[in-house]
Amino acid sequence: MSYETLTQEEREGIAIVTIRRPEKLNALNQKVMKELHACFEQLRDDDAVRVVIVTGAGEKAFVAGADISELAVLTPVGGRAMSLAGQRTLGLIENLGKPVIAAVNGYALGGGCELAMACTLRIASENARFGQPEVKLGIIPGYAGTQRLPRLVGKGRALELILTGEPVTAQEAYRIGLVNLVVPQSGLMTSAEALARKIMANGPLAVRFAMEAVNHGAEMTVAEGQFLEATLFGLCCTTEDKNEGTRAFLEKRPAKFVGK
Ligand code: COA
Repeated sequence: MSYETLTQEEREGIAIVTIRRPEKLNALNQKVMKELHACFEQLRDDDAVRVVIVTGAGEKAFVAGADISELAVLTPVGGRAMSLAGQRTLGLIENLGKPVIAAVNGYALGGGCELAMACTLRIASENARFGQPEVKLGIIPGYAGTQRLPRLVGKGRALELILTGEPVTAQEAYRIGLVNLVVPQSGLMTSAEALARKIMANGPLAVRFAMEAVNHGAEMTVAEGQFLEATLFGLCCTTEDKNEGTRAFLEKRPAKFVGK
């Protein structure tokens, strides 16, 4: 499928989605959001895709936020609808059933930071900047930033970022646990692909169920989360991959997983 504001390429099980509005620092207008939704639905259903990498075009921005020219004319009802639709799209990304790596190549502000947080893992280039500057515009984060940021970095730091609206550097984002890795910009995509391949060497169903246990478990009590974990653990024990993975270890050879 082809899109106006995104490009998508696939190599050896890795899909790379690039948001392309570099003249507006890849700001998320409604067209981008609709295309992202359609693109991720297609990637979810494509069994040949094992890991997705999301990045922004150019060397300056991952995504510099929701498109402020659209925000400027939002009505109350339109604002609510936009927030709900954006939350749905980011929820789709978070629960895609396969890992999504954000390769953050520059500004990740507002909706850009929220998009990165909906991804499973985040790698940042050294020039990346993260922030939730919405209060500077008289609004609050609307794509679940108020919910995902405290879960990632803790309530105190999340409130500091959300209430001051000030961005943090990639190194600071790493220090507070907002990103997994910081690399030079020239090595960003290579590092993201290397991380993707590390995950792809593991059992696809195990990867999927582990993400389900973490994502859904986070919404439950610890006891309910443990019950879910035990159920998914049992489900893993029904798979060919579990037989292959354990046998391969005992036979001292690499496992060949089939995702069944
Ligand atoms: N929405 C719409 N357009 C945006 C945008 C956004 N979130 N962020 C940047 N742009 C546009 C600018 O208006 C400018 O367009 P123009 O050339 O037609 O005037 C272009 O992208 C380049 O941005 P510019 O501000 O000139 O770049 P800069 O290097 O001086 O500053 C930022 C970069 C990221 C600091 C600055 O663009 C910025 O603060 N953007 C808004 C960030 C924000 O508040 N995001 C949250 C929205 S909820």
